[in-house]
Amino acid sequence: MAHKVGIIGGDGIGPEVIAEGLKVIAAAGVALDTVDYDLGGARYLKDGVVLTDDILDEWRNLDALYLGAVGTPEVPPGVIERGLLLKMRFDLDLYINRRPFVFAGDEQRDAHEFIVIRENTEGTYAGEGGFLRKNTPAEVATQGSVNTRLGVERCIRYAFELAQSRPRKHLTMVHKTNVLTFSGDLWERTFNEVAADFSDVETAYNHVDAACIYFVQDPGRYDVIVTDNLFGDILTDLGGAVSGGIGFASSANLNPHGVSMFEPVHGSAPDIAGQNLANPTAAVLSGAMMLDHLGETDAGDRIRAACADTDSLVGSTTEVGDMLVERVANG
Ligand code: IPM
Ligand code: MN
Repeated sequence: MAHKVGIIGGDGIGPEVIAEGLKVIAAAGVALDTVDYDLGGARYLKDGVVLTDDILDEWRNLDALYLGAVGTPEVPPGVIERGLLLKMRFDLDLYINRRPFVFAGDEQRDAHEFIVIRENTEGTYAGEGGFLRKNTPAEVATQGSVNTRLGVERCIRYAFELAQSRPRKHLTMVHKTNVLTFSGDLWERTFNEVAADFSDVETAYNHVDAACIYFVQDPGRYDVIVTDNLFGDILTDLGGAVSGGIGFASSANLNPHGVSMFEPVHGSAPDIAGQNLANPTAAVLSGAMMLDHLGETDAGDRIRAACADTDSLVGSTTEVGDMLVERVANG
């Protein structure tokens, strides 16, 4: 039976890269029963709709969601990000943001992959805070970080399970426990307690600033990383940049007990939209993660194999898509 997938092409380069992703999935022999959703900045400018509860209810009955990118410069910051993308993450409880980074081998280092598990529903993203005396000289703005034992533990537990399933069985927690002594303490205690259930997983801890250095200078030290929402946001752009470019960075927003959403790490890139210039590989690889989630791991593996030689994936959006279709079909 075809998998029922909601498609949100979104804004900017989003629809262009998703079209290539769908092409490659079809070439891998997986049938999707797709439903299109016109959402994002452009839709908001048309009729004010960002995301409705009816749409969310429809999504709960799908097998997966596949999203390109959302956001347009004409809409003030936050409207689409909070109203659509983060609302999806929160309301569908997509509490795991899983972002793999593949490093091609060269003379200096062996080929390597590490995976960042980013907590996806809490931290500074939860929206806690507000203004006092707005637009006066004495204005105050606060933006708190929400960390629940439940939210932190389920994320850390997922990361341990993932690390345990991999050959190296190594998990690094990244935080800033030396300064964020409340949230960091909760994360650290939870990490240490959960670690007791995974005695075969080797653990490490890095402060986030140090992790930035290691991402650039020694990424080979990492296998699985678990971190909070904002640190994970920043680190995964850096991960993309040091592992061949953000054009290859894929992600899964997972609710292990419900519908999950798959999207490239990159944004809508309005500056290059509509010009057939965006690299679709990140969207294609996000599609492969979606196939894994749908139980089509063989097709997912074939797509990842087709994307492995990143140096060869140059050309226009459709040219790279065609190249991948060809490799997947003949590979
Ligand atoms: C990401 C994006 C989002 C985030 C934005 C668009 C809200 O940067 O998925 O990494 O900050 O999570
Ligand atoms: Mn980001």
